[in-house]
Amino acid sequence: MSNLSGKHIILGISGGIAAYKSVTLLRLLVKAGAEVQVVITPNGKEFITPVTLSSLSGKPVVSEFFTANTGEWHSHVDLGLWADAMIIAPATASTLAKMANGVADNMLITTYLSAKAPVFVAPAMDLDMMAHPSTTRNLRTLQADGVTVIEPEVGELASHLVGRGRMEEPEKIAAVLDTFFASGQQLKGKKMLVTAGPTYERIDPVRFIGNFSTGKMGYAIAAEAARRGADVTLVSGPTALADPAGVTTVRVESARSMMQECESRFGDTDIAIMSAAVADYAPKIFIDHKIKREHDNVESIELVKNPDIAATLGSKKRPGQILAGFALETDNARANALEKLRRKNLDMIVLNSLADVGAGFGTDTNKVTLISATDEVEFPLKSKAAVAADIIDYISSKL
Ligand code: C5P
Repeated sequence: MSNLSGKHIILGISGGIAAYKSVTLLRLLVKAGAEVQVVITPNGKEFITPVTLSSLSGKPVVSEFFTANTGEWHSHVDLGLWADAMIIAPATASTLAKMANGVADNMLITTYLSAKAPVFVAPAMDLDMMAHPSTTRNLRTLQADGVTVIEPEVGELASHLVGRGRMEEPEKIAAVLDTFFASGQQLKGKKMLVTAGPTYERIDPVRFIGNFSTGKMGYAIAAEAARRGADVTLVSGPTALADPAGVTTVRVESARSMMQECESRFGDTDIAIMSAAVADYAPKIFIDHKIKREHDNVESIELVKNPDIAATLGSKKRPGQILAGFALETDNARANALEKLRRKNLDMIVLNSLADVGAGFGTDTNKVTLISATDEVEFPLKSKAAVAADIIDYISSKL
């Protein structure tokens, strides 16, 4: 039986020539036993008629916010909650841009913004539009938001030019969804604790010691684990990121507060992944007013060591609990990672080297090696969402 059987899928269709292939995709999904709700943009209807789509899906196609003659309101919120997955195929440059920026001017985008389920996009456009920095930027933003991009193929395009921008074939898109549901819920019933972001160590009311971590990697891990059914708590230092969908997010500021939140939860945790860039030191005293150059004459700040959260949890780890850490290294990367694995009593460590372009802080991509006591797997440069999936796959294989 197909993994799609009984699944609720929103098929979003935006206005591109490739919309004709969405009919085949719809047929494949329905044939595999999925319940499919089509949401089409006003432009999409120029390419394919709602009559075809509703007869194949067995449901009225949603396009406008209201049904014109009855005034009936279509709830994007209900749809967003109903879905187990949302696939937008074709996703035009304009739809990708609106998704990336929250421009909610049609039913497809409002549904996307309300969707609690994983979202997939299959871009389709002419090669120049595909290669434009704006499209690249929007796709990167969407990936960082947790959207899975089903890469377009190189081939003949509607313009008769040959290049990258041809929507992936419906059979392959259906296969991606099938695989997603197959591997879907292996963390169901598992309690996970993830740390992310930097910590800020206050010097005075307006200054702190911190670092350049943005939290993107840890947030991607938390989101991926939640998608796979885990009950995830994310303990996050200060970041500009939104709380990941389906995750309990606890915001902290300093290493000590992060430590408290982690220690109190660890006993009840199956898998802990420490991806925060915790400040190693904090000022010994907090000066309760803004330090003034003229009066205070502060020329040095005495520091004290912060607790090592990963090592503390490592020392309390029970058999069956899994603890993973990160190592961001500039030199002797592998040796340092192995040393941390042992010293902190971790089960695995994710090594990323600052020497690799596109890896480490702030980027949307990462290049990692996963190391445990028994093996070592090196991955190519990928989006942080894809790296999160690799990390979760690796941990799942150890369960
Ligand atoms: O020793 P180092 O800081 O390089 O170790 C990195 C790993 O240890 C990461 O997993 C990080 O989240 C964790 N760590 C921690 N508490 C600290 C320092 C690091 O949990 N105070």
